[in-house]
Amino acid sequence: MSVSPIIHARHGLGTELVQDLWVAFRSAQLYEPTNETLKSAGQKLAACIRSLHELDQAAKLEVGDDIIEVNGVRVRMELHTYELYSKLRTFVNELGVGGFEWTALIDADEAADFAAVVGRYTTNGGREHVTLGARLTEAGIQNVKVLTRGGEIVHDPFAEADSLTKERVGVTYRMGVAVVRDLLESQREGRLPPRYRIRRAVQSIVDEVLTEQMLILGMTCLRDYDEPTFTHSVNVCILSVSLGHKIGLTRLELYKLGLAALLHDIGKVDVPKEVLNKAGSLTDHEWSVMQRHTTYGAWRLVSERTPGTMPAHEMLVAFEHHLNVDLSGYPKLYTPRELSFYSKIVGIADAFDAGTTPRVYKTDPITPARMVEILEEQSGTRFDPVLVKAFISVLGIVPVGSMCLLDTGEVAIVMTPDPSAKNLRRPRVRLIAAADGVRIDGPELSLTEQDDAGRYSRSIVKVLDPDKYGIDIPSHFAEA
Ligand SMILES: [Fe+2]
Ligand SMILES: [Fe+2]
Repeated sequence: MSVSPIIHARHGLGTELVQDLWVAFRSAQLYEPTNETLKSAGQKLAACIRSLHELDQAAKLEVGDDIIEVNGVRVRMELHTYELYSKLRTFVNELGVGGFEWTALIDADEAADFAAVVGRYTTNGGREHVTLGARLTEAGIQNVKVLTRGGEIVHDPFAEADSLTKERVGVTYRMGVAVVRDLLESQREGRLPPRYRIRRAVQSIVDEVLTEQMLILGMTCLRDYDEPTFTHSVNVCILSVSLGHKIGLTRLELYKLGLAALLHDIGKVDVPKEVLNKAGSLTDHEWSVMQRHTTYGAWRLVSERTPGTMPAHEMLVAFEHHLNVDLSGYPKLYTPRELSFYSKIVGIADAFDAGTTPRVYKTDPITPARMVEILEEQSGTRFDPVLVKAFISVLGIVPVGSMCLLDTGEVAIVMTPDPSAKNLRRPRVRLIAAADGVRIDGPELSLTEQDDAGRYSRSIVKVLDPDKYGIDIPSHFAEA
């Protein structure tokens, strides 16, 4: 992953500042100023502010309705930092201020005092930045500016989706990931998998696809490097159900498809961890071990089968999802067969997500847009052509979540495909950088817009790699 060291360092520090600040505020609410927990939280906060000054000669935290920025760079939300991120954001929003700026270094005691004043502050009904600023001055805390609320970074990317909806979509996604983690761990330890939780997770995903499809699809751009197998299974479930919905499957069929998709890689629990988690590329032998996960998966599902609880399509999907329509994949079969319908769907969703996710199969990730081209190239051989067409109409040729350079020099994120099949290269996008490279938040517009002379106002020139620019794609869709 080619992230510049500066951006990388800043990202780490942004997350650290979010964490240190929240821990300091919370400690100040729970403990007396002399308490060791608060003192050590003050030390950490002061050290983090020092590191930010060393890196950027500034330490500024700005909190909007949806995002947090540190020194002008959006802090990325990851699964494990989600709680802290949303707690700090809610807390600062409820304070009625826009954030803080440490104009010079502060020591550990000052940091603990700062946390105590802010953590215990009760709002005053207006002009909070002035009142809170005055409290800090009274407490002898200098070099901290309280920022005003509002301004340029407050933005709602999906104005029509209220924050509760976005929160719910985020919860559905995280619940899916937690269930898959639990499922794989219980299988490894020989415990019975929590079937009712799996069923509930899949039902929630189906419900979101039927009501908030674009928000939940946006979540599949989440690439969690620590938990690729878990997020991959959830992504494949969401992508499969979205494709199933596009071709008109009923709710019950979508549920069955979603369940099979969520379980498709269950055989990976039988692949030794040294192979599964190997950092480098796999040897031929390791690769053949990895390939056995399809057979292992089918076998696990067969051996767990009790009448009425484990329908055959889950086993078929586990067994067939890497076979390909032309049977060119694995495992090698002695007698030709037609893949099950669900296996054809999951095969496409799986190839798309694995191809665009680092580490799932130890290959270099490719952009979603290139992956769509590959699906098209292999349509009719590896993949069912009708299903590939439907899949592309769900995601667009430049898929949802892609970051693109436009011919105007602006940079945008693809939010939804255009409803017309004629306009697959003209999705709705959200501008995130102006032509001069300055970061902006919105507006959202359609690339089908034309000027008075009938020329398209904007077109996609090329797809960019968001990691190179430190852009957090999922945060543009839902509460990741
Ligand atoms: Fe697989
Ligand atoms: Fe997979």
